[in-house]
Amino acid sequence: MDPSKVDIPLLKDLTIDNITENVHLINSGCPDPRLKYILERLVTHAHDFARETRLSTDEWMTGIKFLTEVGQICSDVRQEFILLSDIIGLSLLVDSIDHPKPRASTEGTVLGPFHTHDAESEANGSTISHDPDGEPCLVLCSVKDTAGKPLDAVKVDVWETDSKGFYDVQYATREGPDGRAVLQSDADGVFWFKAIVPVPYPIPHDGPVGKLLRVLKRHPYRPSHMHFMFDKPGYDHLITALYLRNDPYETSDAVFGVKESLLVDLGRVDADQARRYGVSEGAKLLTYDFVLVSDEEAKRLRESEAMKAMEALGRRMKLYNGLPVPDVD
Ligand code: BEZ
Ligand code: FE
Repeated sequence: MDPSKVDIPLLKDLTIDNITENVHLINSGCPDPRLKYILERLVTHAHDFARETRLSTDEWMTGIKFLTEVGQICSDVRQEFILLSDIIGLSLLVDSIDHPKPRASTEGTVLGPFHTHDAESEANGSTISHDPDGEPCLVLCSVKDTAGKPLDAVKVDVWETDSKGFYDVQYATREGPDGRAVLQSDADGVFWFKAIVPVPYPIPHDGPVGKLLRVLKRHPYRPSHMHFMFDKPGYDHLITALYLRNDPYETSDAVFGVKESLLVDLGRVDADQARRYGVSEGAKLLTYDFVLVSDEEAKRLRESEAMKAMEALGRRMKLYNGLPVPDVD
């Protein structure tokens, strides 16, 4: 770009007070209105952060060094940036904004770094965890739409740790997937499988995020949970988890994922269920009825909540690809 041929401000002698508006001006030629808006807000908040904290050069360098370490520990099987986003509540916030839920539907929660794409497709009734030390747990679930209609052929990804609190991918000796499977709901919207009772476990804390938690005097634990992810064309993708009520970490999850509506009390398999599902009477039983939101319902809600939020901020906005941008015309 030849600076003499474009209409940009003369950027020099900038001050604490006018640098922000000048950065906005030089970025204002961005042809993508959404990217331009995101950058404008990011720069505004980053500059305000520096001004409000009177950020020192040493502190800024400490931050840069920390983020560098976060990047350096990332690999194909480790995503420390997502972990950082998780422990500051950003992952949960983004999921809640992007997947708004009508009252009657199942709430979402954090995905975490342990979902994989190599889980076996299993039939209903299969055993997904082969840990001999795990306490058996029959999982009996259904999936419906918000009008209560059972949804068939929903792809359901499930994953959990072993009895020691480790996902299969955390073992260097992993030979294949375990503690995970991909199932399908049947014609009645039902899916079921044999798993183990989830246990609490710490998020990976041997890297820079763990160091930060220690500095903040925070523990790295997640309460006992089992992950679920739902896919069906025409329905909003749902990433969620069920949490065992009264877990010691129920109210202090390191990544803020627990929601009251996702807490479950384990029951016991009765004689009838034992016969029907081929498990021992008295074994632990997890039941839950999931409710998916259609793509149209989710879009309508996402857009109306976006416009309400913009109004509350006093901004004149319009929607661009379903997301807010300044209404400048
Ligand atoms: C998990 O539940 O698997 C998880 C979520 C966020 C960070 C680390 C782990
Ligand atoms: Fe987990």
